[in-house]
Amino acid sequence: LSYVPGLENIPAAETYISTIDTDVGKIWIRGFSLEDLALQSTYEEVLYLLIHGTLPDFETLSSFRRNIYDEWHVPQEIWDIVNMLPRDIHPMDILRTAISALAGFDRELDDPSHEANIRKAVRLVAKTGFLVGNLENMAKGGIRVFSRDLSHAANILQAIIERPAQNWEARAFETAFILYVEHELAASTFASRVIASTMTDIYGAVCGAISALKGPLHGGANEKALEVFQYDVAGAERFVRERLAARERIMGFGHRVYRRGIDPRAQVMKDILAELCRRHGDDRLYRVAVRVEEIMAAEKGLYPNLDFYVAPVYKLLGIPVKLFTPIFAASRMAGWCAHVIEQQLANRLFRPRAIYRGARGSSYPSRN
Ligand code: CMC
Repeated sequence: LSYVPGLENIPAAETYISTIDTDVGKIWIRGFSLEDLALQSTYEEVLYLLIHGTLPDFETLSSFRRNIYDEWHVPQEIWDIVNMLPRDIHPMDILRTAISALAGFDRELDDPSHEANIRKAVRLVAKTGFLVGNLENMAKGGIRVFSRDLSHAANILQAIIERPAQNWEARAFETAFILYVEHELAASTFASRVIASTMTDIYGAVCGAISALKGPLHGGANEKALEVFQYDVAGAERFVRERLAARERIMGFGHRVYRRGIDPRAQVMKDILAELCRRHGDDRLYRVAVRVEEIMAAEKGLYPNLDFYVAPVYKLLGIPVKLFTPIFAASRMAGWCAHVIEQQLANRLFRPRAIYRGARGSSYPSRN
């Protein structure tokens, strides 16, 4: 047996959902480029594509949207549980607890049929978005109701920033939200497939995925990526050089799959950051980003991933930093669910082997 740490470059599943095509710098989601989807589609359309396999026509999309919106409601008991948690815990821990508790309210929890799994996926995506939009509002004493006249993404943004969003703000947010939706076998998605392969329920699988996403090497990086943006260009340069000299990581750079250039998702967000800076009449964040990108390429041969450019965009939209990773989760819930459904349709239990480095035949210590 040969062992590859972190399963680097090892195929661990066959999928029809998505792939990262590093040769052409594209991410294909069921045949469509993720960048095109992010710029031209709505999140609702992309959710339909992920779980049904095709893009919906107009009529189908309208009824699918109603379907999502009917599922926004989160039972009062969940908010009560959330309110019992310590005030200072990370919102990702609150989210994981809330989703776990929601399982108990889903009458189809233990129905493993494909149709029930699809209904549960829509439910999970709708309720996660509603929860994430309202995590902070709940702590302040009240939730904001979502409007059927707005998209799922625009509702989340408005609930978070507690004011109506401009069209360009809502579109920037939705573009980032779509870019987060699915990314092949990221650690959290792999975790969800491993859990699903025991034929347990979909809620359990996505709770595991939420835990994986929280880590700073994965989704948690978008919070940490904001640090460098508190400086001006010279300060950011100092910050990066000091970190590198101390052999520390700059969050938002590097990726297991993209080794030779920028993450294509980051390029889309870079353009959006430029546009947002123009609208705000202040290009400091963009200049900081470009300088940090230059230093990282020259010093480490590393390029930005999506999280690096999402952080300043969220900052300009007025989103509190502790919601950065929960927003990632609210979007990626669609990808996780698609993978859980696919795994359970043609399941084989994940049960790899380990290379044992320990002792054999050890003697018991004396018990006298
Ligand atoms: N800053 C500084 N050095 C880095 C970084 C970084 N962000 N990333 C990798 N390196 C160095 C690392 O120290 C190592 O150097 P050396 O060979 O001298 O020890 C070399 O690059 C290879 O690193 P690695 O950890 O073996 O590479 P990996 O493929 O395991 O790492 C990664 C991928 C994403 C875990 C890593 O690049 C990282 O920690 N980046 C920062 C966290 C981050 O931005 N994560 C978000 C990933 S994309 C969005 C998502 O899917 O969540």
